[in-house]
Amino acid sequence: MRNLTPTTITQAFADYARKAPSARTRDLMVSLAAHLHSFVRENKLTQDEWMAAIDVLTRAAKFTDDKRNEFILLSDLLGVSSLVDMVNATDSGTTSSLLGPFLIEGAPELPNGGDMWRGQEGEPLVVSGKVVDEKGKPAKGTVLALWQNAGNGLYAQQDSKQAPTNYHARLKVADDGSFAFTTVRPVAYQVPYDGPAGDMLRALGRDAWRPAHLHMMVHAPGHKPLITMFFPEDDKHLDSDAVFGVRVPLVLPFAKETVRAKLPANLAARETLPLPVWTARLDLALPAG
Ligand code: BEZ
Ligand code: FE
Repeated sequence: MRNLTPTTITQAFADYARKAPSARTRDLMVSLAAHLHSFVRENKLTQDEWMAAIDVLTRAAKFTDDKRNEFILLSDLLGVSSLVDMVNATDSGTTSSLLGPFLIEGAPELPNGGDMWRGQEGEPLVVSGKVVDEKGKPAKGTVLALWQNAGNGLYAQQDSKQAPTNYHARLKVADDGSFAFTTVRPVAYQVPYDGPAGDMLRALGRDAWRPAHLHMMVHAPGHKPLITMFFPEDDKHLDSDAVFGVRVPLVLPFAKETVRAKLPANLAARETLPLPVWTARLDLALPAG
């Protein structure tokens, strides 16, 4: 096409993609180009602003390696990762949330009732709950992947002083769907802000804080994995999560237990935990399908 104008260029892009081998790829790219073109037209983007955007992407590539992905962080901070999660959510089962960058392969198995805290820095937290399926029945064969930050606010991947799998575990729930474990009470922390994603936060007058949270991925036979996370209701960053991950049903009371006999019977650290100890009840329902 010759004689392009600021308005006809969008249709020209669609026309050029007529022979795309995948209709879905074509539709996505044509839609993306149409939105980008509208963005440029509506904002009358200057050459300098365009160059600044290219610079963000170029710097993001330099910050990205197999331990850190600055593109995913940009997506998280723009709300895109959460939006992808939300538009794909079903309306049954426990509410999902975004995955985040810290799930690892090969986390060690934690026996049901086991202790990930083991006296490390921070306040111990006893988590107990039940996983049921869409009919409210115990979901046999369920495995929970658990991951969270340590008492110093850092994930094991960010902290060479921690063992690489610290606060990462896989836990097989009991046949009646119940589970319990001891961990550290997660703490609020800041997402990495030393790269272009941090520059974007500063340019917007935003901060990098995420409220404290405990990640879970629930694997149950015959179900799609459920990816979610839980937040203590007293965290001051719940309404300003940098990555838009908080959902009302995922905000839970954390209570202090003073009576040892009320802790789950199978808890390995039951007799040794300092009292009072934080407790949280986490009940999970698998989405249908
Ligand atoms: C997290 O859940 O820890 C996380 C999520 C998105 C970006 C950075 C961290
Ligand atoms: Fe996290």
